[in-house]
Amino acid sequence: MATAAVQLDDKVTSFVAKKQKLLINGKWVDAASGKTFASYNPATGEVLANVAEGDKEDINRAVKAARAAFETGPWSKIPTSERGRMIWKLADLIEKHLEEFAQLESLDNGKPLKIARVADVPLTVNHFRYYAGWATKIEGNTIPLTGPPQGKFLAYTLREPVGVVGQIIPWNFPLLMAAWKLGPALAAGCTVVLKPAEQTPLSALRLGELLQEAGFPDGVVNIVPGYGETAGAALAAHPDVDKVAFTGSTEVGKLIIQAAAGNLKKVSLELGGKSPNVVFEDADMDSTIPGAASAIFFNHGQCCCAGSRLYIEKKAFDKVVEGISDNASKIRVGPGLNPDTDMGPLVSEEQLNRVCGYLESGMKEGAKAVTGGTREGTKGYFVKPTVLVNTTERMKVVQEEIFGPVVTAIPFSDPSEIAATANDTIYGLAAGIWTSDIKKAHTLASKLRAGTVWINCYNVFDPALPFGGYKQSGWGREMGHEVLENYTEVKSVCAAL
Ligand code: NAI
Ligand code: MG
Repeated sequence: MATAAVQLDDKVTSFVAKKQKLLINGKWVDAASGKTFASYNPATGEVLANVAEGDKEDINRAVKAARAAFETGPWSKIPTSERGRMIWKLADLIEKHLEEFAQLESLDNGKPLKIARVADVPLTVNHFRYYAGWATKIEGNTIPLTGPPQGKFLAYTLREPVGVVGQIIPWNFPLLMAAWKLGPALAAGCTVVLKPAEQTPLSALRLGELLQEAGFPDGVVNIVPGYGETAGAALAAHPDVDKVAFTGSTEVGKLIIQAAAGNLKKVSLELGGKSPNVVFEDADMDSTIPGAASAIFFNHGQCCCAGSRLYIEKKAFDKVVEGISDNASKIRVGPGLNPDTDMGPLVSEEQLNRVCGYLESGMKEGAKAVTGGTREGTKGYFVKPTVLVNTTERMKVVQEEIFGPVVTAIPFSDPSEIAATANDTIYGLAAGIWTSDIKKAHTLASKLRAGTVWINCYNVFDPALPFGGYKQSGWGREMGHEVLENYTEVKSVCAAL
């Protein structure tokens, strides 16, 4: 394990020390129940901060505030250019506090500070800037009617905000997931009740302070941390919420759909994955090996799109497995705040147990760890980067989302069968292809049932590029202009002339 941690920013130390409240209607308030819950530091397992625990009554209050802000508050009358300006200002403020956010993210989630500095926070800033631009560009069409011949009509569509939106986000990229949800919702003119994950509420709460500083009127964004089964479920079921956007497990995604049925609120879901990453023997191995390693080990494998099923053409199998295992064994695992840490702990004890459970199940079914295969140390929630071989298609480790730094490496000999093998999963979030033959690459890309296909790269994200899942990986898309569909209704207006 690595040595001295960085000195924490004073603002971070004081933020973490104070009791965190809920943001409802522009005020920081205690939970109606008076209860609090602990957010833990996953590098040590110790309590990091105490946070007001939102539940049904707090969700009711937050929805009421969001409804009022949507229907009659200043937000409902604000010009779109002003909306865009506020979102841009929010991006500037986050950028100004980049180091603070990176430290909070590292403390609460466990990820390396050096990664949060160059990935989570800058991507968040960029995301808000992209949607600041969209605020002034959401428009309808004029529609030439096909008939009837007896009358003349002027017909057009208006694209209007969907209304009050409930947003439930996970812990793997706490700040960035808040941005993915808030950016388009605010650009579209919606109002929001955001429920951060109970494991990582801190960066969203700090973001709440900056939303106020950026000038968003009271009630436009309400932030209610709490548990999924209580606060999350209340938000998903609330009769006065028009739309719910969720990122998390496929299992909970199905519960969200059921909860939303009460008032038929619109639902978008970004769920799990078990993404195939296909390496052909003609790939440029100097870039493929580190690329495929990073596809699984980035963010400790806690990525919905992690390249967790690695299919390697037989002739290249030994070389690629050796290369990735070598890469894995050099990853320095340690507390996120240590400057030389490459991989931090998993987010929680629950995730540690889940991932270790998969490792045990894999071994029991005959898989072999070329490297890793166990927990690292006894304090904190660290797992060694792991490469499993000798797996078969029906093993749990090949079929189920592990959400940890564990890849299964599987050889294939017939390239004409690889699309079917790669698609043999309930998921369809992402896929990777590594080859120097462009015909092969694009032919396979067209056959893969996945929302994103990366060719000779992986984990390339951009706010302009839609992201989301086929099959049980979700409904709808995040990012690009596609996500605006989630946050708008289309109204057809038809006038007789
Ligand atoms: P989860 O799906 O339980 O949690 C995600 C969010 O949903 C959190 O904010 C949570 O409070 C909320 N939630 C939980 N139950 C809810 C309910 N009944 N109603 C409304 N909201 C609810 O995921 P969890 O337990 O943290 O992780 C379990 C597995 O889920 C992971 O091992 C991984 O496989 C998958 N996962 C996938 C993510 C993705 O990015 N697609 C992110 C996080 C987890
Ligand atoms: Mg935490």
